[in-house]
Amino acid sequence: MTSVRLMKPYISFDEVEADFREVFASGMFTRGDHVEAFRKELAVFTGAKHVHMATSATTALWVCLKMLQIGPGDEVIVSDFSFPATANVVEDVGATPIFADVSRETFNMLPETLEALLTPKTKAVIFVDALGNPSGLHAISALCRSKGIPLIEDAACAIGSSEAGRHCGSIADLTCLSFHPRKLISTGEGGAITTDNDDWAKWLDTKLAHGAHGMKGVALDFVDFGYNFRLPELQAVMGRKQLAKIEAIVNERNEVRDAYRTLLEPMGFVVQKVSADVRHNVQSMVFTVPMGCNRNDLIAALKVRGVESTIGTYAMSATTYYASKYKVKNPNSHWLEANTITLPCYAGVDTKLVSDSVRDALAIL
Ligand SMILES: Cc1ncc(COP(=O)(O)O)c(C=O)c1O
Repeated sequence: MTSVRLMKPYISFDEVEADFREVFASGMFTRGDHVEAFRKELAVFTGAKHVHMATSATTALWVCLKMLQIGPGDEVIVSDFSFPATANVVEDVGATPIFADVSRETFNMLPETLEALLTPKTKAVIFVDALGNPSGLHAISALCRSKGIPLIEDAACAIGSSEAGRHCGSIADLTCLSFHPRKLISTGEGGAITTDNDDWAKWLDTKLAHGAHGMKGVALDFVDFGYNFRLPELQAVMGRKQLAKIEAIVNERNEVRDAYRTLLEPMGFVVQKVSADVRHNVQSMVFTVPMGCNRNDLIAALKVRGVESTIGTYAMSATTYYASKYKVKNPNSHWLEANTITLPCYAGVDTKLVSDSVRDALAIL
């Protein structure tokens, strides 16, 4: 039986009960005050001029591609070491995902790799803050600006992270956040788009409201066709509670990271590198395993010992679908998929117990 879980929610029912009761009493399950407040609070926190809520990071990313009118014949360069949603949205709009290999240290796309992949067909870049780490984002942003190519930041994992004193959400042209339960803020499912671009914000305002803008007589004026990816009101209540304590959550997770480093680095584990000017939210506590250690066997051995763990994340180009379609072999992302492990991380996690279990497991592998 698992005794140490990978992640624990940063929200309890007690925290939301009073607000939930009010929402139930009002019957305003959508488009209520909490959604609007969450949106404004996210703007203040991230430093972005505009925030639009979405049902997930996936819908947020997809909407951004639609807004940029990306489709068949276009290429979008994506960081290869990511959850497949990053490439799936490109595939879905009919464009071609170009898988950029990543740094073995930060797990992120590097400017020189990006530059070598640019072609006249490149219509956007999706930089992934791998496991919440924005290291190198400003350099990628500068390169994209110099080429006039829009930069979408897949910050699904990165709420609370910053680079050079700027929070994720105020660095790229468009930033997509996730509020899935493996993230630091969980609303069950949920997401957001941030941008400073007024025209894009206007487009999103209308398109995310079924295409309605203003009133025509006593009814909505549908000036365009549109979508519904709204975050419901109860989800916004949950999001607000966690956003209010995000700094404490990030601090706690960094303390856990420091404790693991002390215990595991002497055994040969190497922590995901973050740049000196980055504050990492430690969305996932990821190490590369010692040389000669079979990562899958380690995960299995930890499970027997009651410790939940998992892979770092995926080399998207190595998934069955993308490997058979595009036949890209990126050595670093493929190596990272095979050699990284995510360990339990939250305030109060018994890092000594986990590390002792790792030591025991290594002894028999
Ligand atoms: C890097 C990255 N992008 C996108 C997603 C998709 O996020 P969502 O579950 O909110 O659609 C995830 C989910 O884990 C992710 O890790």
